[in-house]
Amino acid sequence: MVIFDGDKKVFKLDTDNTSYVLGITDEGYLGNIYYGKKISSTDVMYAMRTNEAPFTPAKLPGGKVDFMDRFPSEYPFSGTGDFRNTCISIRDSAGQEGLELLYKSHNIYAEKRKLDGMPSARGEGSMSLDIVMSDEAVGAEVVLTYTVYEECDVITRSVAVKNVSEKAFYITKALSACLNLETDISDILSLHGSWARERHIQRSKINYGSYVTESLRGEPGHQDHPFIAVLSEDCNENHGSIYAMNLVYSGNFTASVQKDQFGRVRTSIGINPDRFSWKLEGGEEFQVPEVIMQYSYTGTGGMTRNFHDFFRSHLLPPKWVEAERPVLINNWEATYFDFDDDKLVQIAEEASKLGIEMLVMDDGWFGHRNADNSSLGDWYVNEEKIKGGLKNLVDRVNSLGMKFGIWFEPEMISPDSELYKNHPEWALSFADREAGLCRTQYMLDFSRHEVVDYIYGKLHEILSSANIEYVKWDMNRPIAEAASLSLPADRQGEVLHRHVLALYEMQERLVNDFPDILLENCSGGGARFDAGMLYYSPQIWCSDNADPIERLMVQEGTHLIYPLSTTGTHVADCPNHINGRVTPFNTRADVALTGTFGYELDVTKISGEERSQIPAQIEKYKKYRKLIQTGDYYRLASFRENGRHDSYMVVSKDKKHAVIIYVQVVTDSNVISKKLKLCGLDSEKIYIIEGKEYAGNVLMNVGYIMKPLKGDFQSAVIEANSLDD
Ligand code: DGJ
Repeated sequence: MVIFDGDKKVFKLDTDNTSYVLGITDEGYLGNIYYGKKISSTDVMYAMRTNEAPFTPAKLPGGKVDFMDRFPSEYPFSGTGDFRNTCISIRDSAGQEGLELLYKSHNIYAEKRKLDGMPSARGEGSMSLDIVMSDEAVGAEVVLTYTVYEECDVITRSVAVKNVSEKAFYITKALSACLNLETDISDILSLHGSWARERHIQRSKINYGSYVTESLRGEPGHQDHPFIAVLSEDCNENHGSIYAMNLVYSGNFTASVQKDQFGRVRTSIGINPDRFSWKLEGGEEFQVPEVIMQYSYTGTGGMTRNFHDFFRSHLLPPKWVEAERPVLINNWEATYFDFDDDKLVQIAEEASKLGIEMLVMDDGWFGHRNADNSSLGDWYVNEEKIKGGLKNLVDRVNSLGMKFGIWFEPEMISPDSELYKNHPEWALSFADREAGLCRTQYMLDFSRHEVVDYIYGKLHEILSSANIEYVKWDMNRPIAEAASLSLPADRQGEVLHRHVLALYEMQERLVNDFPDILLENCSGGGARFDAGMLYYSPQIWCSDNADPIERLMVQEGTHLIYPLSTTGTHVADCPNHINGRVTPFNTRADVALTGTFGYELDVTKISGEERSQIPAQIEKYKKYRKLIQTGDYYRLASFRENGRHDSYMVVSKDKKHAVIIYVQVVTDSNVISKKLKLCGLDSEKIYIIEGKEYAGNVLMNVGYIMKPLKGDFQSAVIEANSLDD
């Protein structure tokens, strides 16, 4: 619900449990008054304190800059006195950077407009508000768009910047949203890591000054994540306040938390202004990415479940939200580059007997690629390896009753490739310096449309040549030397954003041209696991590290925001190829249950004992697949916090079924069993666990007794089903 109280000049955006309130001052400044538990009245302008000196530039014109420095600006602008972190900066034709955005008009309407060229949440059942802010001196109009999703307690926000003058200007910063909070928050939650250990949760204190998490890698990266939350000190899994923002964008971002001189907190998120500028000609418009924002007073768990519901109902490709995904086997860790058609068919033969449903041919099938130093860009089949061609291989795999999937890395070009020989100018590079290599490859210049068309054409040819039912779209280096030989000097700051837009355009074309292909994104594991990519692909490879113990932390951080069904999870070989850890086969499978589930090992080479466990593992996955894909996720214990064990559960929406996963990482001697307080059950229902009856309220208050398991790295999967099933 969106309400505008014209007398009080107050906007109130209500979800089922929250209110977000903005007010317009007499001068036309737009301020953030309140965000929190739902309130019933618009009579809250008093909280903006426009009667406190120097809060009234209309009455105290001598104090205008002081006002700007204190005002809780809804979309803070740079250069005119707001000395805190701002959201927008424009350099005009005279080279000046200073804005003063004043309210001009607004519009309230049902549902929402699709963002031009960018992924954004779908608007079914929602209501939107556009507020037009204007700076007549610069000739800029800024449209702030809010869409309210009542049931999910989510508000999305985006911004369009328009040049309504006749002269070009340069946008040097345009973030997606900002919150000015004056409430009991004291902590920051953000996600960090590295290759093979992405998205570990970090909780830190808000101090005076600024905290920034960001990426300059041309993608979100393994290291940081386009998400920021601020929370109350007492906020835990089940209660306490949390304000969260998740950016629907797959490039450079910045997210900051700033405590100002009065102890108030400003938090903002958007495209990183470092290495960004955008020339906007008169009459043109620039679209800023969308942010998904929410407030929850039911702790981090409440926030998580809101995000999961929201992603499932409004952002993931609808066709795949509830569709069963095939159990796949990927040959990367099985063979790396050393494979041919016969080797793949041998793996497929064995896999099909065990119940695996799809073979994915990973890197190394094209050009003359036998290592990671050649052929990217040469998207034609290497017939020395795949004898008889791709269709022949796919047909052989299909004849075993298995689907076939294929790997691409479309954004890259190897110096050792036909494509580079013919088009060295298609690689991103500075005009006067040799570009740096990473994994012996360059980035293609996607700001050139002919490059995007050429590469897409090659993908299209391959995908049309055989019965391919899955694509893994990889990206294995960050973007340095973000310069295009085809753009003028004053547009070089656009290269990184243009790359992201071209990536979106290609993925849009791919999913439209091949609607039945299951697309899985990937970037050296999980460096581009974000809401933007999830708009096109319902699943993303979560991390190159499939060690189940590392995965406990990677998956905990990933599932803090994203539904379980979006995380690519595989059972891999042991000792783990990345960290050498040896874990039971059973534990590897149990940890992979809460994701898309597949295998990444040579099924012809593992021990007979392990091989014999695969059919039962697949059966277990299939038994819980629907529940895990559609249910509510609750975290019961965190190995990251306690250093000993991890546990989480998923409860069906009707609360009749639940599955609990428990991993004992470290065994302790002479200890009593653990009490696990279950969550999300119906307190009135009776549940059966391992043949014994318990009331829901007993399981949630007294708890379930989890017997110690024998040894390190052990796991158990327990189900609870209500008697009235
Ligand atoms: C990185 C991916 O994360 C791996 O799964 C694999 O596809 C390699 N790239 C192939 O180069």
